[in-house]
Amino acid sequence: MYENEIEKAKEKFGELLKKQLTRVEEMKAQGDFVDYKSLDKIVIGVCGGDGIGPAITAQAQRVLEYLLKDDIEKGKIEFKVIDGLTIERRAAEMAAIPADVLKELKQCDVILKGPTTTPRKGDEWPNVESANVAMRKELDLFANVRPVRIPELGVDWTFYRENTEGGYAAGKEGVNVTDDLGIDFTVVTSPGCDRIIRAAFEFAKANGKKRVTAVTKANIIKTTDGKFLDTFYRIAKDYPDIMADDWYIDIMTAKLIDEKRRRDFEVVVLPNLYGDIITDEAAELQGGVGTAGSANIGKKYAMFEAIHGSAPRMVKEGRDKYADPCSVIRAGAMLLNHIGYIEESDKLYKALDICTITEKKLTMTGRDTGATGEEFADYIMETIANL
Ligand code: IPM
Ligand code: MG
Repeated sequence: MYENEIEKAKEKFGELLKKQLTRVEEMKAQGDFVDYKSLDKIVIGVCGGDGIGPAITAQAQRVLEYLLKDDIEKGKIEFKVIDGLTIERRAAEMAAIPADVLKELKQCDVILKGPTTTPRKGDEWPNVESANVAMRKELDLFANVRPVRIPELGVDWTFYRENTEGGYAAGKEGVNVTDDLGIDFTVVTSPGCDRIIRAAFEFAKANGKKRVTAVTKANIIKTTDGKFLDTFYRIAKDYPDIMADDWYIDIMTAKLIDEKRRRDFEVVVLPNLYGDIITDEAAELQGGVGTAGSANIGKKYAMFEAIHGSAPRMVKEGRDKYADPCSVIRAGAMLLNHIGYIEESDKLYKALDICTITEKKLTMTGRDTGATGEEFADYIMETIANL
């Protein structure tokens, strides 16, 4: 029965295995994280993406240029604007990232990225892979770091979401074996678990955090989540001063809204899909997904982005200049911290707090009843000047 179908599916499965085994070897051969201090020059790529992306990243670039003025003059920092990561071009070329754009991205050390449209079933766009997912894979940005802070509730969480494996590694390589049977694959590797879990513990150690929590569904998804969890407890032994515990994803989503327990979480490390879901929940508690910044870190490259969408309707209605650049500016603050500009990064975080919470002289409404992104960036820079 179905022998042909089964053979075809096996063939596809074989290809997938080859690809993943090659990836394992590549990971094993990988060196350590780049040391930005050892570079003569750091190239910061500014990749606007589409929709409101170019408008808001341009404002974030102005703020970063202001903060880095001296080192730009000395030639230690260079900005490189990368156009072309738009849904129109991606659709025309049927590529998640057009080849020339990818080449330019690889010429940068760090990237500030605007939102990019991810086609979904039923919309006007062909089914090209998400540019986000492709960039994470192409640049091997395995750690998706998403901080969530709600000072008034005592919440200070940092999520370390694995960013290249799980359901995302082969998300478009699933097989419809027959009309009635569809199979997707979820992928986990030892070096893949090792590097994200170590990154989470190293972050905890460097930032005086006392607890790292793993989140899985290892009671049900035994092989892949099981490997993640085993690796977690093995690595935890190297960090005896840090408490290590684990929760299943279902109860964890509940605990994040449990007022008595949630402030106890500090660093949370988790496989890709659980991380995707729970960081939206966490960001919503902070004030909405639009308020969160996100770092995508690999050994060689790093990319920083806002986690909101590209709001194409705002552009159609000519309102992109009123789009709020706050979250991509926040991503810029994470970028500065990552490349070792700690003082500049702290200043920017402070200014963001003043401009969006304590003083809040401008209101962004997304239309002409509020301030423009340019005015907001000016306000940030004035605030920094007066710190
Ligand atoms: C995110 C987003 C992406 C993801 C989408 C846009 C592909 O939801 O960054 O969390 O699923 O990872
Ligand atoms: Mg998401």
